[in-house]
Amino acid sequence: MDLSRAADTVKIFVSKYSDILNKGFQMSINESELIKFLNRQEPEDWTTALAELLPSIHEVDRAATQIWFKFYPVELFRALEEAPDREKLAQRLLIQGNYRLADQIDESHTFLYGHRFWPDVREAVTQRLKTFENATGGTLAAEIRQTAEAVGARLRVDPSLLTGITAVAYMTLTQVGATEFAAARGTVHIDSRHARMSPDAVLQARAKDDGQGLFGFLKTVNKSWTVTYNENENRAHFKLMNEEELASGAARDHSRKWSDFDSRCIEGPIPVECRSASCGTCWVGVLGGAEKLADVGVREGKRIREFGYDDNSAPKPLVRLACQAQSYGAVSIVIPPWNGVFGKYLRQRAEGAIAEPLPNESERPSENAAAS
Ligand code: FES
Repeated sequence: MDLSRAADTVKIFVSKYSDILNKGFQMSINESELIKFLNRQEPEDWTTALAELLPSIHEVDRAATQIWFKFYPVELFRALEEAPDREKLAQRLLIQGNYRLADQIDESHTFLYGHRFWPDVREAVTQRLKTFENATGGTLAAEIRQTAEAVGARLRVDPSLLTGITAVAYMTLTQVGATEFAAARGTVHIDSRHARMSPDAVLQARAKDDGQGLFGFLKTVNKSWTVTYNENENRAHFKLMNEEELASGAARDHSRKWSDFDSRCIEGPIPVECRSASCGTCWVGVLGGAEKLADVGVREGKRIREFGYDDNSAPKPLVRLACQAQSYGAVSIVIPPWNGVFGKYLRQRAEGAIAEPLPNESERPSENAAAS
């Protein structure tokens, strides 16, 4: 056998062998005890775990973690997964934009401070696919806490900065499956300057309000506030007049062609359609300054529940409709990459009732049609 034929034979052998190894690895992680454990967790188990973990999540990520879980609800994921035709159900629920975590495994959580540690957290959770045993019947919160502490000890980082992103990692694994999770690149998607910011610096930036000039404290009109919509980008902010709704200020931002970034954006960085709390397109999470927004109105609160975004009755919730929320100070928000109308459907599904098709699937529901 000449040398080139021998080299080809070795290449074929190595390729076949690594194929077998890869398939074996994928089979083993897909049948992992961790996957079985995660598949047994009901939405209420996640709610309980999050409530238990929240006090031990650093302030810089406490709101962000809760917002992330509202942006990627496991109930909706399961409904779509179990639907005979996923795309048809997505259409029926009027879902627009990029709602699938599988398409954004490394990117969905850039607004968490813990995103900086994503490569290590993802790797640690991937390793747990091979080592997890739940012989002692540990809880979901205990599993998340244990992984966050292990990564923290290795990186010499306080686990409070890792608990939120670790919870996000376990939910991402639940929704995308072992193979895709393990195959993700595990990269950080913020620039090094922002990555170097301390948690205190991020909190200080959120707390800062705009000065209103030398005699600003005497001003009763013409006050203006900064709205930051991406804390990891210097230019990502727009101005808002006092008591103006977030979406109105965003619409005056002509600095970019917004549809190039998100096809739902027709004017400004916040997607809008109806501007009257009817469509649900403009939902945002409030990372900082929730207390500087006007209390949620009866209509806004009712519609947020109907859309399925939140069932919180707090006066200053973390999820708002940008076309309704008026600001009295500088705020930091995060814009989800998708929107839909699924509150009624998920409630009916949880009750075991068969959800009837919406009255007219080709149109957005009228207020009464969407109401439960
Ligand atoms: S733009 Fe339709 S609900 Fe705000």
